[in-house]
Amino acid sequence: MGHKADNSFFNQKRPWSKRKDNILQCYLTPYLYKIATQRAPILIVDAFAGPGKFGDGEDGSPLIICKCVDQVRSKGFPVPVSVMCIEPDPELFSTLNNSIKSFPFAEAKQGEFHEYIQDIEKLASSHSVFLYIDPWTVEGLQWAQMEKVFKHLFVSKMSIEVLLNFNALSFARRGLAALKLAVPNSDPATEDQEEIDAPIVTSPSVINLNNVVGGAWWQPILMSPLTFPQKVQQLADDICARLSVRFKEVCQHPMKAMPNHSVPKYFLIFGSRHPDALLLMNDGMVESQRVLADLAKPKDPTLFEMRPTSLVPDIETLPGIVLNHVQTPTNRGTVILNVVREHFCKFAVKEIRHSIENMLKEGKLKSETGKTKINNDVKIFRPK
Ligand SMILES: C[S@@+](CC[C@H](N)C(=O)[O-])C[C@H]1O[C@@H](n2cnc3c(N)ncnc32)[C@H](O)[C@@H]1O
Repeated sequence: MGHKADNSFFNQKRPWSKRKDNILQCYLTPYLYKIATQRAPILIVDAFAGPGKFGDGEDGSPLIICKCVDQVRSKGFPVPVSVMCIEPDPELFSTLNNSIKSFPFAEAKQGEFHEYIQDIEKLASSHSVFLYIDPWTVEGLQWAQMEKVFKHLFVSKMSIEVLLNFNALSFARRGLAALKLAVPNSDPATEDQEEIDAPIVTSPSVINLNNVVGGAWWQPILMSPLTFPQKVQQLADDICARLSVRFKEVCQHPMKAMPNHSVPKYFLIFGSRHPDALLLMNDGMVESQRVLADLAKPKDPTLFEMRPTSLVPDIETLPGIVLNHVQTPTNRGTVILNVVREHFCKFAVKEIRHSIENMLKEGKLKSETGKTKINNDVKIFRPK
C-alpha cells in the first residue's frame, strides 16, 4: 500500500520513525556537552522540519531538538545554542511556528532547505553545526548545496556533523525509472509495503537525480547485474564513501520496518570528524537495532538464540575481535574505537569495555598499570 508524501504523514508516528527519533534524541545531549568544550556557539539545523508534533501527540524532530537544548540550557550551558527549523509547506510551517514558539533560541524558517544554505554556510564559519536532514524521499536534497556547508570543515576548521536520512530505496526506484530500466514491484518478503512515495508521480529525471547525490556515479550501480536489494545497499555505501571525503568518521544504519526485510525503508547516515561522536552514534544505533531484533523474538523463550547473528550479533565473538585489535600495546580507547569502526552497530561501547575488563581479569590481556579497572588512556597488551 502506498502512502502519499503529504501532511497526513504526521497523523501518527510510525515505529521506525520512533527508532530514528530515539537515535537523534540520545545523541543530542552528549553531543551538546562535548562540542561546547570547543567554546564556539552551536547551531542545530532541522533542515526538513515538519510541524513539530504528530497527530498522536508524539514530538517531531523540531520539538525533540528544542527540548534537549532547553534542558541543557536550564542547567547553565557554557555557550549559546540556536536551532533553525526549515519547512516550506505553509500549513506545516504555521504549526511548526506554534510548536517551537516557547523556545527563545529556536527559529522557524519558511522555505526550502537550499534557500537557507547561504545563511547556514555563513554561520558555519563561526559556529559548531549539527545538520539534521530528514526528507520524505530524496527530493529537496542537493549534494552541491550540502557540500557548501561541509567545506567549512576544512576552510574554517569548525565542527560540522550531519545526520542524513538517505532513502536509497526511493532513489533506486526513481533512478531505474529515469534510466528507462525495469522498476521491480515492491516485494512484501523483502521490504515494507507502505512505501512513502510508492507511486512516482512526476517522472524522475537523470539530471535531478545527479543533483541529489552530486554526480552520475549511481547510474552504473543501477545498470549493474546486482540484485535490487544489493543495488539499494550499494547506493548507501557510496553515499558514505562520498561523505568520507569530508568526514573522518562515517557510519550508516539501515532503518528496516521489520527484522526479516532485506531492503531498509531508508538509511540513517552520520558524518563527523570526532571519534567520540562515532561511539555515541554507535550506541544509539545499537539500541535501535535491538528494538528491531525484539520484534523477531520467539513467543516462548528458547535455550539458544534462534535469531540470525546479522540481527543479534554474538557477544561471545567479542573477545576474539578485541584481541585482533591488540596486536601491539594499544590504549584501551583506541581499541574500543577500532572495534566500533570495524563492527559498527554490533556492540555497545560498555559491552566492549566490559569484555576488555573480563579479559584483564582472566589474564588474556594485561594492562600497563597492572590493574583490571583502567581508563581509556591505559595501554593494554597480550601477555607473552
Ligand atoms: C519526513 S518529513 C520531516 C519529519 C521531521 N523531521 C520529524 O521528525 O518530525 C519531511 C518534511 O520536509 C518538508 N520538505 C519538503 N521539501 C522540502 C525542502 N526542499 N526543504 C525543506 N523541507 C522540505 C516536508 O514538507 C515535510 O514536512
